[in-house]
Amino acid sequence: MNRSATIAKEGAAAAPFYIEQGDEIALFEAAAANDLPVLLKGPTGCGKTRFVAHMAARLGRPLYTVACHDDLTAADLIGRYLLKGGETVWVDGPLTRAVREGAVCYLDEVVEARKDVTVVLHPLTDDRRILPIDRTGEEIEAAPGFMLVASYNPGYQNILKTLKPSTRQRFLALEFDFPPPEAEVEIVARESGLDAERVRPLVRLGGKLRALKGQDLEEGVSTRLIVYAATLIAQGMKVDRAVEAAMIEPLTDDADVKRGLLDLVTAVFG
Ligand SMILES: Nc1ncnc2c1ncn2[C@@H]1O[C@H](COP(=O)(O)OP(=O)(O)O)[C@@H](O)[C@H]1O
Ligand SMILES: [Mg+2]
Repeated sequence: MNRSATIAKEGAAAAPFYIEQGDEIALFEAAAANDLPVLLKGPTGCGKTRFVAHMAARLGRPLYTVACHDDLTAADLIGRYLLKGGETVWVDGPLTRAVREGAVCYLDEVVEARKDVTVVLHPLTDDRRILPIDRTGEEIEAAPGFMLVASYNPGYQNILKTLKPSTRQRFLALEFDFPPPEAEVEIVARESGLDAERVRPLVRLGGKLRALKGQDLEEGVSTRLIVYAATLIAQGMKVDRAVEAAMIEPLTDDADVKRGLLDLVTAVFG
């Protein structure tokens, strides 16, 4: 199975656009300077991945991003023997490459990964900073610059999908939330090319949808979805169609709930 689609390596390019929401940049820099691993907690689409990309570029470190899923194994992170032209060769996984190169390794949605994955991380998160590779007998000491970052969404009410205390107590943790309205207007305008005046009602609608979290909706609308709506509008799509496709349909499959959400759209846009 080709898993390369879930793994991306980025070089140190110009830092991608990121608006700070609190003191997360200083905290991340302090963590990086002191070899401390960081856990980012927060709802989907609120800027966690963008923040890590921004910080890796700022620090001038390469970034390996792994999108975790429920059959991601330790071998997917560490590496495996592969047949190449009749020979068996060892191929490093993204975690091993990051450890060797002194890169940032970002495990997105880490709670999705299988349990054996978190165990692999433990010796990397204390002052040993080593990665033992059972299959080759190697024990790699992390190069200077190696940093482990993980993210997860604590919002999903799934008891099984939470980090064990023995794992989470190894990370500094930063809580993320959706940006305050003025910052979100700036972000959405910048990302979509739609002017701020036209973005403002979309962000206002976003606030109203988020207020329904825990009642009619499991999750409010993400900044990402507001960017999608604005992008469609900037390309000439009618506002109500763009809003329905990007900000209403993705949130619910329930016809009654959807009608209620469309009433909110009418209240905001008239
Ligand atoms: N603080 C921010 N600065 C810049 N862009 C942001 C910010 N927060 C959210 N975004 C926008 O929202 C999109 C989704 O954010 P992302 O980092 O992918 O979310 P997460 O990883 O939390 O699910 C980004 O692609 C970006 O367009
Ligand atoms: Mg993400």
